[in-house]
Amino acid sequence: MRHESPLSLPRHVAIIMDGNGRWARARGLPRTAGHRAGVERVREAVRTAAEANIGYLTLFAFSSENWNRPQEEVSDLMGILRFFIRRDLADLHRENVCIKVIGCRDTVQPDIRALLDEAEERTRNNTGVTLIIAFNYGARNELTRAVRSIAEAVRSGRIDPAHVSEATLSTYIDTTGIPDPDLVIRTSGEQRLSNFLLWQAAYSEFVFMPCLWPDFDRKAFYEALAEYSRRDRRFGAVEAPEIAVGS
Ligand code: IPE
Ligand code: IPE
Ligand code: MG
Repeated sequence: MRHESPLSLPRHVAIIMDGNGRWARARGLPRTAGHRAGVERVREAVRTAAEANIGYLTLFAFSSENWNRPQEEVSDLMGILRFFIRRDLADLHRENVCIKVIGCRDTVQPDIRALLDEAEERTRNNTGVTLIIAFNYGARNELTRAVRSIAEAVRSGRIDPAHVSEATLSTYIDTTGIPDPDLVIRTSGEQRLSNFLLWQAAYSEFVFMPCLWPDFDRKAFYEALAEYSRRDRRFGAVEAPEIAVGS
């Protein structure tokens, strides 16, 4: 049975925002111009998520492997994040958006860390869309940090090794309390995870969009949602469960 109903809406959408560099190159512009254009689409995506009644939106902003880019591009990306938080935090707060940040915060510059902490702190009681910013995020790093914390808890006697379960790991990773993504979208035509949400995306639907991130507008977002609504999710069973997935 296919789910054509508009009710089969993802509760959590995670997006790998890819293609800024190619967008800029196609226009003869520096890569930074693509990243700047991409920020406008971040704003639009948050608003579209709110309009479409999506509870959780995760955006992959900077990966733990993106440090391998030229130093100039890395510092441009850091500057863009600073600019985004400083400029948009008040608006996002007014729009009732609750911000959470996943990824390793220990190794980012102290001022960026402070901005990320402030964004979370200021919006923590908001009840609208939860915007999860994956920054300096890599799933293998996240899982390694979680395993280390569990090992420490075992050593100090707080956890019995026999009681380490999938639920235990879920509470030690960065996304604790956040439902798994129902839909993972990647723009730019690439079809890979690039170390994004390896644990959480175990049963996600994937939609790969040919458009580059700075072209991913509201209409493209709705196209991805429409594609999702046509999928059958079986979770290992023979037929999809009857329940609608909506938030
Ligand atoms: C995505 O665009 C933004 C980040 C990874 C920070 P890219 O910069 O990867 O753009 P392409 O893939 O080179 O076109
Ligand atoms: C993934 O895109 C990371 C982000 C979108 C932040 P990349 O452009 O870094 O991924 P690869 O290198 O093509 O796999
Ligand atoms: Mg890329």
